[in-house]
Amino acid sequence: MKSLSLFFICFWMVTTAVSQSATEISIIPQPVSLEKKSARFVLNNQTKIVSDTRNADVQRIVRSFTNQARKATGFTMAQAAPATKANVISFSLNRSPDKVIGKEGYTIDVTATGVQVAANDAAGLFYAVQTLFQLLPKEIESQTVVKKTNWVIPGVQITDYPRFAWRGLMFDVVRHFFTKEQVKQYIDEMVKYKYNLLHLHLTDDQGWRVEIKSLPKLTEVGAWRVDKTGTFGTFTPPTENEPRTYGGFYTHNDIKELVQYAADRFVNILPEVDVPGHSMAAVAAYPELSCTPGTYRVSSGEKFMQWTDTGFYALVDNTLCPANDKVYEVLDKVFTEVAQLFPFEYIHMGGDECAKNFWEKSEAVKQLMQKEGLKDLHEVQSYFVKKVEKIIESKGKKMIGWDEILEGGLAPNAAVMSWRGSKGGAEAAKMQHEVVMSPNNNTYIDLMQGDAAIEPPVYKSVRLKDSYKFEPVPEGVDPRFIKGGQANLWTEQIYNMRHAQYMTWPRAFAVAECVWSPAAKKNWNDFIRRVEDHFERFNVAEIKYAPSMYDPIFDVSKDGDQLKLAMSTEVEGLDIYYSFDNSFPDRFYPKYTQPVKIPIDAQNVKVITYRGKEPIGRMITITVADLKKRADKKK
Ligand code: ACM
Repeated sequence: MKSLSLFFICFWMVTTAVSQSATEISIIPQPVSLEKKSARFVLNNQTKIVSDTRNADVQRIVRSFTNQARKATGFTMAQAAPATKANVISFSLNRSPDKVIGKEGYTIDVTATGVQVAANDAAGLFYAVQTLFQLLPKEIESQTVVKKTNWVIPGVQITDYPRFAWRGLMFDVVRHFFTKEQVKQYIDEMVKYKYNLLHLHLTDDQGWRVEIKSLPKLTEVGAWRVDKTGTFGTFTPPTENEPRTYGGFYTHNDIKELVQYAADRFVNILPEVDVPGHSMAAVAAYPELSCTPGTYRVSSGEKFMQWTDTGFYALVDNTLCPANDKVYEVLDKVFTEVAQLFPFEYIHMGGDECAKNFWEKSEAVKQLMQKEGLKDLHEVQSYFVKKVEKIIESKGKKMIGWDEILEGGLAPNAAVMSWRGSKGGAEAAKMQHEVVMSPNNNTYIDLMQGDAAIEPPVYKSVRLKDSYKFEPVPEGVDPRFIKGGQANLWTEQIYNMRHAQYMTWPRAFAVAECVWSPAAKKNWNDFIRRVEDHFERFNVAEIKYAPSMYDPIFDVSKDGDQLKLAMSTEVEGLDIYYSFDNSFPDRFYPKYTQPVKIPIDAQNVKVITYRGKEPIGRMITITVADLKKRADKKK
C-alpha cells in the first residue's frame, strides 16, 4: 500500500513536471501583455481557417501560417465559412482600429474551441503568426511531417505591439558577398523575431554590390576581389595578376525582387552607400574620384588602414575627393538609381571612419578649405556630407549616416545612426535630429560573443548579456527622437550563412526584445529560459546559433609570481570544472568556487561548465602563456 501510494506520488510529480514544461510559454520578444488561461487549443487535421478571402495581404499571411504548419503537422487547414465556430483559427482585421496596438500590434485569444487573431493592419496579423508559431511545440519548425506530437496551443490572451518602429538588422554583403537567396533566408529568420528593417551595407573597400547602370565600372571592376581565406585584414597583398574571382552584385532586377520579398514580410530595406571613406571599390572603378592620383584595386582583405590608440590613418587613399565636382556628379547618378530601386524613405550614406591623411596632403582640398572657409578636415567632411544630403533630398529621400557625420557640423536634416556608443545619438537627439541607436558595446554582433580562446577571432567581445542590456533611449534624451535600434553584422570574418547565423543568434534575440518589448518587461533569467527553448526550435529548424552563453568569463590577474584566475558565468546555475594538468575536466574534477592560483608549472587551463550532471559549455583550453599576456596587459 505504502509503495503503491509512493508510486502514484512519483507518477503525479513526473506528469505534472512534464505538462508544466510542455505549457511553458517562451515568446521572444516578450509580448506587452500575456494572460494564461486554463483552456487550451489542440490543432488537428480537422482544424479550419477563417479569414477574409478577398484581402490579398491577409491571404498571404494566412498562407505563411498554413504552409509551414502543413509541412510540420501534415494538416491541410482549409478555409471555412465565416460562421464556423468550432476548431478554427480566425485571422481578422479590426473594423474599428484598436488604439492601443497601432499598426504593428495584434491580439491573440486562445480558447478550447479556437484561436482568434486580430489586428488593425496586415503587419499585425503577420507578427501574430510569428507568435502563434512560438506558442506551438518546437516541432512546428520542422520541414517534414512530425507524427505523434500533440499540437497544443496553450490558453492565452495576448495583447502585443512594438516599443519602437525601427527594429533593424544590418547585413554587410560587401566584405563577404551573400547571394539574393541568402539575403532572403536572412529576412525569413529575422521576421520570426519581429524585426522590420534590413540595412544592407552595399559598398565598401572590398566591393560594390549594387548595379548602377549609368556607371557600369562600379560593378564590372568594383564587385570583384581576390578570393582569400583565413583572418580577414591580415591577408597577403594580392599579386598584380592574381585572378579577381570573388564577389558579385545585385542587378536592378535582383534588388526589385529582394525589395518585394522583404515588403511581403513587412520589412523595409535601407540601402547604404558608404562615402567618402570606405570607398576603395569605387575608386578602383573610377580612380579620378580620388584626391590622390594612382591606380587602385578593390581590397581583398589585406591591411591598408593603420589603427592606433588615438585613431587611424590610411596606407592607401580609400576616400572620395571632397574637392572634386565630378565626385558629386557621380554620387548624383548613384543616388538617382538607388532612390528608384529602394522605396524606403531613408538612404544611408555611411560617413564612418574616413581617413583624412591623404586629404591633408591634397592641394585641391587645401584650396577648397580656403574657398569655403573650412577650418579643419572635420569641416571638410561636413561640407561633403551636406552636399550629399542635398543630392539625396533631391531624389525625394531622407539621409541617415553613422555618427561621424556629427563631426564638423551636422547636415540640416540628417538622421544619425549612433554606433560609437550612444553618445553621438544622444547629442543628435538633443539637436532634434532623428536617431537610430546601434551602440557597438551592445549591438555589434560581428564581435566575439565569448572568450577569444574558443570563439572565431575578432578584435573584441560583446556577450549576450551586453546585448540584453541595450537601452535605445539614453537618460535625459527625448524619446521622440529615437526611432529605434538595430544590431549590425559586419562580415569581414563571416564567410558563409552558417557562420552568419552563429553570430546573429542568440544576440539578435536580445536586441529584438530591447526594441520590441516594454523596458519594464525585460528579465534576464526569464530571457535565458526562453532562449533555451528557442535553441531547441533552432535545432528542429536546423538554424545555427552560438552556445557561447554557457561558457565561462575569465578574469586573470597577477598574484605575486603566480596568476590568479577568476571565473564566472552569464547564465545562473552552472558549475565550472577545471584542470591544470592538460586532461579534460568533467564534473568529478575540481569545481570552481573562488579565484584559483594557477600552479607555477601549468601550461594549460582546461575548463568546462555543467548544469547538474550534464555538460553544457564547450571544452575550453587556454594556455597559461596567453593568460599571462592578459594579466600583463591589465597592469
Ligand atoms: C562602423 O562600424 N564603422 C559604422
